[in-house]
Amino acid sequence: MKILVIGSGGREHALLWKLAQSPRVTQLLCAPGNAGTALLATNHPVASNDLPGLLALAKSEQVDLTLVGPDDPLAAGIVDLFQKEGLRVFGPVAAAARLESSKSFAKGFMLRHGIPTAGSATFSDPEAALVHCRASAYPLVVKADGLALGKGVVIAQSLAEAEAAIHEIMIEKVFGDAGNTVVIEEFLTGPECSLHALIDGENYLLFPDAKDHKRALEGDQGLNTGGMGTISPSREVDLEMRRRLKVEVLEPFVKGLVADGLTFRGMLFPGLMMSPEGPKVLEFNCRFGDPETQSLMRRLKSDLLDLIDATIDGKLAAAKPVWDARAAVCIVLASGGYPGPIEKGKVISGIEEASSDPDVVVFHAGTALKDGHVVTSGGRVLGVTALGSTLEEARAKAYSAADKIIFEGKQLRRDIGV
Ligand code: AMP
Ligand code: GLY
Repeated sequence: MKILVIGSGGREHALLWKLAQSPRVTQLLCAPGNAGTALLATNHPVASNDLPGLLALAKSEQVDLTLVGPDDPLAAGIVDLFQKEGLRVFGPVAAAARLESSKSFAKGFMLRHGIPTAGSATFSDPEAALVHCRASAYPLVVKADGLALGKGVVIAQSLAEAEAAIHEIMIEKVFGDAGNTVVIEEFLTGPECSLHALIDGENYLLFPDAKDHKRALEGDQGLNTGGMGTISPSREVDLEMRRRLKVEVLEPFVKGLVADGLTFRGMLFPGLMMSPEGPKVLEFNCRFGDPETQSLMRRLKSDLLDLIDATIDGKLAAAKPVWDARAAVCIVLASGGYPGPIEKGKVISGIEEASSDPDVVVFHAGTALKDGHVVTSGGRVLGVTALGSTLEEARAKAYSAADKIIFEGKQLRRDIGV
């Protein structure tokens, strides 16, 4: 089987790494990919939001299956387009991907179907939003409705900060049309955790849980990033909590899909806050998480392609994947300055030395090949993953490997999984 993976991050490298182990895979392609995906797949220089270009690539290469990594092409309807052209593709159609691309749509869905989430109000009129802010307690959370590269959430500590956020999002339109509407939420406290569940329309298959570390700096300080490192399992989910998450989040989710006439086939990744009153959904993502996927793929023992096929064909009820009982840790190595402006083109050394431990795999994110060297080409550069019989062992292996990799400006958090 010939498979195309769309995207260029650590998530896509990890998915390709896992797919490459399938005896049914004959050829892998990636668009646009990075220096790591080039080791497993043929990279094609087509951007992940160039839908006509991707369709032309899938057709000319006679691809059997396309896997979509990032959120933008899903929201733009890549799955609808490929399906219309008779191509096999993994991911939700745009109407279902709205659960990620519109926070107000997701809120409405959660309210209709009894899925626990923060109390909220939605506004398309900035004046009405400001009136609401004046009558609210603080902190208060202001969210741009649409996709905003993970930057559309402001935790306002005071009315002045909430007013500034509404001004930026709704009037200055710093996120464009993503800020036409805002969702204003009550502030929740508690540890966060990432769930991943394949959804085949009517059934779900829950993966092991994971935990991301979103802030740039140690101690959860600094700006929000795409994610600076993950562990799986997290410390937040024991067997009883896993049962509750199935009953309180996933069962109402699939029932809600059917009730609303939404077809969702793909990966659902709810971001959760384990609040003192119980788990609450902060957001739905309709794709694999990054860097969560880097840790999860290290733990999946079964064939990923079988799970993807079962999802597309509505056969998840019979799927019984096997997971490695060991813990996985992923440490992100980022460019200096990330998540702000960064310099690209720094030569990276030490990846082979870091990978000499059989329990370590280094996934590429923002890397490129230049004059025979692997160089930096993005904010998040590499994801160093390790398995260990305990979380502490996996951490020690991952950090020891991460320390062998050198590039100018290298930035990492030392407290992933602490
Ligand atoms: P989201 O993109 O909605 O997951 O929000 C990004 C981050 O903002 C989350 O990972 C949380 O750390 C924080 N956040 C979002 N919603 C809330 C909330 N209601 N209360 C407290 N923190 C929140
Ligand atoms: N790690 C967070 C995300 O993929 O959105």
